[in-house]
Amino acid sequence: MRLAAEHQLAAAAFAIRSERASDVAAREALLDASFGTNRNSRTCQRLRDGRAPADGLAFTAVRDGRLVGTVRLWHVNAGGRKALVLGPLAVDPSCRKLGIGAALMHRALSAVAARGHGAVILLGDAPWYGRFGFTSAKTAELSLPGPFERERLLGLELRDGALDGACGMIVPTGTPLARRAAKPRRHAARAA
Ligand SMILES: CC(C)(COP(=O)(O)OP(=O)(O)OC[C@H]1O[C@@H](n2cnc3c(N)ncnc32)[C@H](O)[C@@H]1OP(=O)(O)O)[C@@H](O)C(=O)NCCC(=O)NCCS
Repeated sequence: MRLAAEHQLAAAAFAIRSERASDVAAREALLDASFGTNRNSRTCQRLRDGRAPADGLAFTAVRDGRLVGTVRLWHVNAGGRKALVLGPLAVDPSCRKLGIGAALMHRALSAVAARGHGAVILLGDAPWYGRFGFTSAKTAELSLPGPFERERLLGLELRDGALDGACGMIVPTGTPLARRAAKPRRHAARAA
């Protein structure tokens, strides 16, 4: 009995770690499988186009040496309030219901809190995200740059009042990718 339980535990074992550059191809394949290859036409993608994720806020789930989950967060201005947008979150269909999605969410939200961010917003299923504290209580006056279902726009305050008075469009404020890519080259030139 104990052996069987240990075997089950080992079969479910996974790790959450920071995303690495070498994860990108597997992450993109997982996102295609989870959301379809037309996923980049979704409204939330407008908040990520050409931007880097927020520093230290991109995570990967690994099981048996294989990428099986991903979540990232992005800087936005949410109707006058600084916030992060969470997404996309996905777990490989062959590894769902093992707690990987929840582990990614907990890891991401602890890192958000540790870095002093006040609020997270997302577009997603309330029955899933509600278990992590997301509600529509402070998102009613917010909008997105494209079509969206109002009841799926959810927020979570990590600092009380961080979304008070949030009203208007959610717009991206993250570092443009081109600027981030240019940085190492400048450093390399200086070092040479
Ligand atoms: C949502 C997702 C990340 C959950 O990953 P996971 O590793 O299976 O999650 P966990 O094992 O931690 O939790 C599984 C539980 O969440 C529930 N769940 C999964 N997706 C859900 C959803 N959209 N709404 C409500 N509950 C959901 C499962 O039924 C299961 O319930 P149980 O604990 O009562 O059995 C995964 O199903 C996924 O990648 N879905 C496709 C992409 C997606 O829709 N992502 C964003 C969610 S809006």
